[in-house]
Amino acid sequence: MTILNDIIDINSKSKLSIKSLSVFHSNHTKNMAQTQYRLADVQARNGKLGAPIWIVYKDSVYDVTSYVDQHPGGNDAIIAEAGTDATSAFQDVGHSDDATTILAKYKIGEIVEEEKKYDANGKKKKKVVAAKDEGTGRSCLNTVTCGLLG
Ligand code: HEM
Repeated sequence: MTILNDIIDINSKSKLSIKSLSVFHSNHTKNMAQTQYRLADVQARNGKLGAPIWIVYKDSVYDVTSYVDQHPGGNDAIIAEAGTDATSAFQDVGHSDDATTILAKYKIGEIVEEEKKYDANGKKKKKVVAAKDEGTGRSCLNTVTCGLLG
């Protein structure tokens, strides 16, 4: 009886730990931070002088160095976009869903929050243009000052 209880006890403990492990795992996967890159980091990976070939597609960063030579549209099509945001180039061609699935395999991270062009719903953010100072002649004074200093 004691042995049986022990076995049940061990089993229930191990079940518990497996459960907590899987909870930990799913939380961990959900919250796993993506590597963040600035657009300038991507620009440096333009395929020139042996540099890798990175592109941005909808705020995600892809290292497609090893893919370019397999591209059905020729390697030059991707090399021309190397180091840039290739979202419109990729979309304008009307790539298939297969192409998007292939692209996903090469994801290495995301663009930093402040440089992202899409919101959390995947919609393109509107550009915020700074309001013009139409104040009371102060801007005029600034112009004069700048003119004198400049
Ligand atoms: C870097 C990620 C890219 C991936 C994974 C990719 C993948 C593919 C795939 C799988 C196809 C075959 C047709 C299809 O399934 O849609 C294709 C075709 C094509 N791609 Fe891309 N592509 C990429 C980027 C680009 C870029 C940046 C351009 C530049 C404009 C481009 C231009 C083309 C063209 C012109 C074709 C048609 C080729 C033909 O049918 O002759 N691709 N691409």
